[in-house]
Amino acid sequence: MMYMYMYEYGTCVMYLYEISYVITIWNNFSAGYHCQSMTDQTRTKVIITGASGYLGQHLLQFWLSEEDEKSQYSTGLDIVALYGTLPSFAEDCRKAYPSKCQSSSVPRNELLKVVSLDLLDEGAVSKFFAEENPDVVVHLAAMSSIGVCEEDPEKAMKVNCPTYLSDALSSNVKLIFLSTDQVYDGDMSGSGNIPNQRLYFESDLAKPVNAYGRTKLEFENYILKNRSESLTVCLRSSLILGPRTNLRCRKQSFLQFVLDRLENSNPCNFFTDEWRSMVYVKDVCNFIDCFVDKSGSSSDSLASGVFNMGGPRRVSRFDFASAIGKSCFPDRSDEDIAKVVKAVAKSSLPVGKVKSPPDISMCSSKLQDTTKIESTDFKIFIGDCNET
Ligand SMILES: NC(=O)c1ccc[n+]([C@@H]2O[C@H](COP(=O)([O-])OP(=O)(O)OC[C@H]3O[C@@H](n4cnc5c(N)ncnc54)[C@H](OP(=O)(O)O)[C@@H]3O)[C@@H](O)[C@H]2O)c1
Repeated sequence: MMYMYMYEYGTCVMYLYEISYVITIWNNFSAGYHCQSMTDQTRTKVIITGASGYLGQHLLQFWLSEEDEKSQYSTGLDIVALYGTLPSFAEDCRKAYPSKCQSSSVPRNELLKVVSLDLLDEGAVSKFFAEENPDVVVHLAAMSSIGVCEEDPEKAMKVNCPTYLSDALSSNVKLIFLSTDQVYDGDMSGSGNIPNQRLYFESDLAKPVNAYGRTKLEFENYILKNRSESLTVCLRSSLILGPRTNLRCRKQSFLQFVLDRLENSNPCNFFTDEWRSMVYVKDVCNFIDCFVDKSGSSSDSLASGVFNMGGPRRVSRFDFASAIGKSCFPDRSDEDIAKVVKAVAKSSLPVGKVKSPPDISMCSSKLQDTTKIESTDFKIFIGDCNET
């Protein structure tokens, strides 16, 4: 059945493959290994937590889409997609990736396994991760709403800082954790003079102003302290934007929110004084992919630690929404767009219950230098996401 993956190369390759397979098994016996298929040694087992979320679904599509050159056959990944309670997710995955969900007859190689696991269930989480024994964990699951975290900070800490998940992993497991730009307080000088004089670097003090940021920083600190022997990467992500997910999802990105307002001519206030380095979801998938070592060599040299992950530009929510209006609704006049995309200074409004940092634009050159991937300007990726 292993030939299934090789059919396009013809009989000659199959013959050579058979010889190498026999040699590999012989070598394994000689080395005293437990007899496993060749697939076990050449493929990488990745667990994605939060696979049913906005980023998780894009990452699955990135790795599983057959049209994509990064398809699983070339990346060599066996994926375990964990989700919480989204009822449609398992069924949607089966429909979207039918050939990947079926168990193949290659031992231990299920290509895509979809499992519901409550992160709050400490015992079940510890058991699951210890038993699955992955090569890599991409940890995306989170209570990701700033408002919800503020309402129940204790639960937020439990969900967003699952120390027992980290403890269940052996030291050779790579952990890639999606952290946030909300670990920075957004007012670098402390004087309220914004925008900041410069962008945030990883070496700047992390001083979150809300519960969400505190829970994320807590988990960063925990894993960097307790997993110093392993590749442990904390990606401090800016606001992630991109197209709709291909499966049903509880939430889409801020870009869909703006498009929806414009499509329905439904006016909305957009802040002129809240700046982010908004990042394209496809770039985020590429960055994560770069840290998931498939070859066994290249990304081992990528350093552990904290990386800012943003786009190349500081942009306010108002400028971003206006740019979407102009790019996706070229027939509308500037006045018509301005009737929907309304400019408001947040500083002119009464202070809300949830603190949101004003300017957390970041410099991401450390990540770009490490991965050799450049992030995309929002004016370019807006074109990619035009759904009208
Ligand atoms: N999106 C952004 O703009 C952004 C920016 C910076 C950082 N991040 C970080 O990036 C990661 C992914 O973000 P996202 O936008 O994809 O988040 P999301 O759409 O809100 O997805 C959250 C995921 O976490 C899962 N989850 C929540 N509570 C759980 C629990 N108790 N047990 C198991 N699973 C649970 C959800 O599963 P169910 O829905 O199935 O319950 C879902 O798959 C998060 O860690 C977030 O903090 C995101």
